[in-house]
Amino acid sequence: MIEIDLFTLFPTAFGWFEAQRHISNAIGGGALRLGYVNYRDHTPLSAGQVDDAPFGGGAGMVLRVDVVEAALRARYGADPVELRERRRVIALTPGGRLLDDRLVSELADATELTLLCGRYEGFDERVLEHLVSDRLSIGRYVLAGGELAAMVLCDALVRKLPGALGDERSVHEESFSEALDGAPEYPHYTRPAEYRGWRVPDVLLSGHHARIQGWRMEQTRRRAQAQRRG
Ligand code: 6GU
Repeated sequence: MIEIDLFTLFPTAFGWFEAQRHISNAIGGGALRLGYVNYRDHTPLSAGQVDDAPFGGGAGMVLRVDVVEAALRARYGADPVELRERRRVIALTPGGRLLDDRLVSELADATELTLLCGRYEGFDERVLEHLVSDRLSIGRYVLAGGELAAMVLCDALVRKLPGALGDERSVHEESFSEALDGAPEYPHYTRPAEYRGWRVPDVLLSGHHARIQGWRMEQTRRRAQAQRRG
């Protein structure tokens, strides 16, 4: 069971995500709980303000540190500065640690996570410095907000939870996993065995499991090599 709290200005953005079969299965089966906290519900400012113009000028608005602190306090009843010592509080931010299979596995082992989504130009830097335990990015490009990044993380993470996939093997032996030594996965084929003259490799039709496994590992090895060469 993993409980993930999502702090966001747009909780409804996750409606589509929760409706995806593997996510609703994980929630229905008790493997996953998603909770939502809207910063706007906890702003200490009158008029419901959550962001402000950056000191020094410049484009865009910045999520305020006092607003983020108030939302964390309201949810956990503790000082966020201490909270981050005992709970993973993760800010989604383009400059953060890059998400990869190893980090997904590490986070999937947690029982509780907090994900903070930013909007606008992002977080006041003091949020990142004092209120979170981790900063995470899904790539070196900028999204309008952390919500999509949070969904990417949750999707990858839920695939690692026991029982989330129909077949446990698909998560064990998938691309970039330890079972494949961090390499991309071998190629897959299904019917028809021939299409426009494009034939499925004979070995896969042979029914010879040891040879099939050998072929797959060889393909994985080649792809890893090709990837290293760029
Ligand atoms: Cl985590 N947030 C935003 N806003 N943009 C991103 C990102 C996160 N990761 C890559 N781009």
